[in-house]
Amino acid sequence: MSTRVMTVFGTRPEAVKMAPMVKTLDACPGIESLCCVTAQHREMLDSVLDIFQRRPDYDLDIMEPRQTLSTITSKCLLGMETVLEQAKPDLVLVHGDTSTTFAGALAAFYHKIPVGHVEAGLRTHDRYSPFPEEMNRVLVSRIAELHFCPTPANRANLLREGGSGQTLLITGNTVIDALQTTVQADYRFSTPILNHLDYQGRKIILVTCHRRENYGQPMAQIMTALRRLVDTHPETELVYPVHLSPVVQETAQQYLSGHPRIHLIAPLDVMEMHNLMARCYLVMTDSGGLQEEAPALGKPVLVLRRETERPEAVDAGTVKLAGVEEESIFEMGAALLEDPAAYAAMAHAVNPYGDGRACTRIAQAIQWRFGLRETPPEPFQAGSGTR
Ligand code: UD1
Ligand code: UDP
Repeated sequence: MSTRVMTVFGTRPEAVKMAPMVKTLDACPGIESLCCVTAQHREMLDSVLDIFQRRPDYDLDIMEPRQTLSTITSKCLLGMETVLEQAKPDLVLVHGDTSTTFAGALAAFYHKIPVGHVEAGLRTHDRYSPFPEEMNRVLVSRIAELHFCPTPANRANLLREGGSGQTLLITGNTVIDALQTTVQADYRFSTPILNHLDYQGRKIILVTCHRRENYGQPMAQIMTALRRLVDTHPETELVYPVHLSPVVQETAQQYLSGHPRIHLIAPLDVMEMHNLMARCYLVMTDSGGLQEEAPALGKPVLVLRRETERPEAVDAGTVKLAGVEEESIFEMGAALLEDPAAYAAMAHAVNPYGDGRACTRIAQAIQWRFGLRETPPEPFQAGSGTR
């Protein structure tokens, strides 16, 4: 009898990072791979599933406009009950820190099904930032029995919280696995504007901004700084694929629309996004995933947040925290646009987050846990990735 492993995810970033995981498990001897999506995101999730060509086995279809944390969590929890009773998996794999992640882990726990946590051990140590993600991570760490930590620092966080060494594996982040399949030197965009940008003659700033804790005043300040930056630097063009959250859409329209060199576009599919990132000059973002991807592509990142749970690329010098105040964002952006030495100091490719083999390690660790393999996988050695 094979071991039934059910991956559960629901949002765009989880899908980008879990789709390669599902495909690895699909091909893994001794494992029956099942995929359940909550569809906490709908269009933004489906777009990733289309690219990776994997249809889910179960789809809870929970998304509603302007959903709250309580509606997401309760709908996931209830929906998972039926799925888990039907499918009876031996292991549930969740990813990261979303409300789907927390509810998926809790639902499995209620059914006494062991949980594996992919992208485990990230911490800011501030329970309200990112909100609610930091608490989701902490709670999932308590529920999970297998912790797949992207980096040594993530593992150290869990050891400090009393985690047992045997269950804490350093795997690298699966996002680097994904990135290795999407970026192509001769890629041709299907979004017309992206084919017409002058990547050599102009400085293309790629922006994303969506976090709940930035809603309101911080997002207004971020966007005011971005507009000022473009206004004062005629050599720039700003491309912002705007998240479908109505709050974000309204704020982006209010502060950034009507400028000839600011392009507010629909969310990009992941092929478009990764290839745009590979060609742009600079990334300004509050996204977690972009903080991991851009350093691997040698692109400087200014993080539009007060803190980050991803200090590795900050230490490597390719990422800086710009905060959420207009002045600091403007000044740090201007320095990178005006000072070639400051730019060169940040624009080098580093891979602190993975070497493209995270999914294989996680699958091998699961085989080991269920007696399908004699030894655990070799851990990811930070710094061993391709540069
Ligand atoms: C969620 C995660 C966040 C993650 C982000 C990635 C939680 C609490 N938050 O935040 O950790 O960084 O996803 O993008 O789990 N919407 C659509 N279509 C879509 C997706 C979203 O219309 O495909 C709209 C809906 O109105 C929805 C709203 O966006 O209600 C917000 O989505 P939600 O998942 O609640 O929050 P995110 O900010 O996306
Ligand atoms: N992404 C994408 N299209 C976009 C914006 C982001 O494909 O228009 C990808 C991005 O490359 C990364 C992931 O989505 O892989 C990050 O998702 P997001 O920023 O929504 O969430 P976070 O990482 O902050 O949780």
